Amino acid sequence: MKTINLQNKVALITGGSSGLGKAIAKEFVSCGASVCIIARTAANIEETVHEIQSVGSGQIRGFVCDITDQEKTAEVLGQIILELGGVDILVNNAGSSSRKNADELTTEDMILDMDLKLFANMRLVQLCLGQMRAKRWGRIINIVSIGGKVPGGSSAPTALSRASGITWTKILATELAPDNVLVNALCIGKIKSGQWERRYAASGSNDSYEEFLSPVAKTIPIGRLGESEELANVACFLASDLASYVTGVALNVDGGLCPVT
Ligand SMILES: NC(=O)c1ccc[n+]([C@@H]2O[C@H](COP(=O)([O-])OP(=O)(O)OC[C@H]3O[C@@H](n4cnc5c(N)ncnc54)[C@H](OP(=O)(O)O)[C@@H]3O)[C@@H](O)[C@H]2O)c1
Repeated sequence: MKTINLQNKVALITGGSSGLGKAIAKEFVSCGASVCIIARTAANIEETVHEIQSVGSGQIRGFVCDITDQEKTAEVLGQIILELGGVDILVNNAGSSSRKNADELTTEDMILDMDLKLFANMRLVQLCLGQMRAKRWGRIINIVSIGGKVPGGSSAPTALSRASGITWTKILATELAPDNVLVNALCIGKIKSGQWERRYAASGSNDSYEEFLSPVAKTIPIGRLGESEELANVACFLASDLASYVTGVALNVDGGLCPVT
């Protein structure tokens, strides 16, 4: 039987303390990777590390860092490279959803969103690239959104940042393929996570969480929101040697929601 083996791989997952990033961290550890997670809130990192540390043969460590802080990010990466020898698998996952009507959108809104979703990604790639190239092995997985392919109204700045993330993925994939550094994007539809729990809490609804999600589920061809583990499985495949001929793809993980491939 073929299994996914990430032993002897070091993975860095931004936003690994919650939702999709946390599920990916758990899956990677269960496949044997040494996983480093980055997020801003120390308590959530601690809780996640505690929860995941015994799920498999891999290891997990947490780092408090805002990825929009260039100096701190470089410091954390320096520490990871010194202590673990480099990053083999980079998952750019940290993000949020910010939406405004076109007439309210400011340049500042765009700069803040692009800084979190594109510029931080670029800086992290640059920090990891040297040793990936030297080893002639690397994986970069960019978590984006189907809104980057098919934006709805009032979906700026987030959809603009996501579209740039998909283009960035293709640029990198083409440039880095000769070094065996494979770069793919996962375009998320609607997957249960901290984002959806916060929306439920903010709604003040008396319905259960599942009842609250039910109208959303009806808009998705498969009839339900995704589970974070379902996304993690795809990320795990892309991170592994089983995906050795896949690069430059922006794969929808959306239960059929996005009308384009
Ligand atoms: N779930 C969905 O349906 C969906 C749909 C489309 C796209 N996405 C995208 O998928 C990714 C994961 O989303 P999720 O639903 O799992 O969200 P989530 O549960 O809110 O998790 C977001 C993670 O990112 C971290 N983070 C946010 N800003 C950060 C920063 N500046 N520096 C470092 N870490 C930061 C958060 O921790 P701290 O707050 O402690 O920093 C948290 O660990 C996001 O990029 C999101 O936009 C999700």
